[in-house]
Amino acid sequence: MQRIRSQSGWVLGGSGFLGRALVESAQDAGLRVSSVSRHPQRSSANPIRLDLDSPQDELERTLEAECPDWLVNCAALAAAADCEREPELAKRLNAALPARLGQICQALGIRLLHLSTDNVFDGETPRPTGYIEEDTARPLSVYGTTKREGELALLAQNPDALIVRLPLLYGDSRGTGAGASDSLLAAIARGARPRLFTDEFRTPLDVQQAARALLEWIPSSLNGLLHLAGPQRLTRFELGERIVAAAGLALTSIEAARQTDVPCVPPRPRDLTLDGSRALASLSFCPTNPWDDPGNSLQGGSTP
Ligand SMILES: NC(=O)c1ccc[n+]([C@@H]2O[C@H](COP(=O)([O-])OP(=O)(O)OC[C@H]3O[C@@H](n4cnc5c(N)ncnc54)[C@H](OP(=O)(O)O)[C@@H]3O)[C@@H](O)[C@H]2O)c1
Repeated sequence: MQRIRSQSGWVLGGSGFLGRALVESAQDAGLRVSSVSRHPQRSSANPIRLDLDSPQDELERTLEAECPDWLVNCAALAAAADCEREPELAKRLNAALPARLGQICQALGIRLLHLSTDNVFDGETPRPTGYIEEDTARPLSVYGTTKREGELALLAQNPDALIVRLPLLYGDSRGTGAGASDSLLAAIARGARPRLFTDEFRTPLDVQQAARALLEWIPSSLNGLLHLAGPQRLTRFELGERIVAAAGLALTSIEAARQTDVPCVPPRPRDLTLDGSRALASLSFCPTNPWDDPGNSLQGGSTP
């Protein structure tokens, strides 16, 4: 059993949508955190520039030298279209990298958290309350397939690691236009009228709340697979309605569509509702949506 301290840590992919939120939350919580990526943000306390797709063992050497107490892996090829275009790169970042991390962190005694996705499921047969951790993964895309390979490879190397399957994330992207809400608002700002599906179900979650949950799990001994779900099952269109309303835009800024209206390759999973009850039982808070809190608002960030 690992002895878990939480003083200093690494966030791989600290320049990304989730990684940035996690680095900021960790800093706010008084933790020493290094943001690791090819483009670590200058504002982060201890930026480490590393290409995780490099064949050399620079990652291993730097980890051995710094030996953080914990590491959260948010680095990935996370856009489904990019994965279809570059399946070999997707395999290296989404499957081979987690395996490598599992091995190094096990050897060095570093607490490891890794992120996976609801897209490991095909979306055809969720239970009424959503997919549970034991349900059979049947990914439809290169993204989902490589993420599933990463889960299996990591757990084989490091059974102490925690793998958190996340749903669709939205929330403040600090002006980068990333995530479900800012990408939608950026498209509208460019003059588009995005078509959103009324027959595609997700359990979307605010990125800040995902970061908060991860911070709580760093010093825990939770391991294996865990589903973190947003508070409500929504269609993509219903999510869009809430996002545009919270941003003060007209509901006519978006258009309702059905999956069959828009041919998609690979096919888009229909219902990726996650059952997050196991995760919830271990958290000190219940995730909420900002539009349910009158004192809060979704901050719309357009692409800089
Ligand atoms: N966003 C969602 O809705 C969502 C939903 C479910 C699961 N997830 C999972 O959550 C995790 C984070 O997703 P995200 O949306 O935050 O992704 P993201 O915004 O695309 O960020 C990906 C991160 O990976 C880093 N990265 C990529 N290639 C790299 C390389 N060769 N070397 C070093 N760093 C590299 C990027 O940094 P640089 O480009 O600066 O190198 C970036 O910081 C992923 O595992 C994803 O599968 C996300």
